[in-house]
Amino acid sequence: MAEIDTAWLTAVDRIVAAHADQPGALLPILHAVQKELGFIPPEVVGRIAEGLNLSRADVHGVISFYHYFRTHRPGKHVVQLCRAEACQAWQGQATEAHAKQCLGVDYHGTTADGDFTLEAVYCLGNCAAGPSAMIDDKLYGRVTPERLEQLLAQHRRQS
Ligand code: FES
Repeated sequence: MAEIDTAWLTAVDRIVAAHADQPGALLPILHAVQKELGFIPPEVVGRIAEGLNLSRADVHGVISFYHYFRTHRPGKHVVQLCRAEACQAWQGQATEAHAKQCLGVDYHGTTADGDFTLEAVYCLGNCAAGPSAMIDDKLYGRVTPERLEQLLAQHRRQS
């Protein structure tokens, strides 16, 4: 097993302590861990389980159920493309295909240079201006293949 980063455990302990008393604490804890560490390292699953008096399998089951949670370190930028119905009606599939081609990865993949991780989401609340995408924490609408290319180039320059 990989060596556990003690900074991860410190962060996880703090997050678990902050939420442990609330009902249904697991989901908010997983969100907080991913927000702080960028992903949920498999090495911290046991620590989360211990803190909530759950089994590792319980925690692992929730992580794998939700597409949103990632268990690998992401690239410098996370590109989330909306695959829900309204964005599909706005020709979102063309943007998806173009993203995969430009980045050379499929969903959940990270480019070889580590700049981008591509992920799917199911509605970003921006249905009237689809296709929608979120890059890092910023929402974009009308993301045609051309617009996506511009956004990727812009973010690549910031890397
Ligand atoms: S369906 Fe894509 S933002 Fe709602």
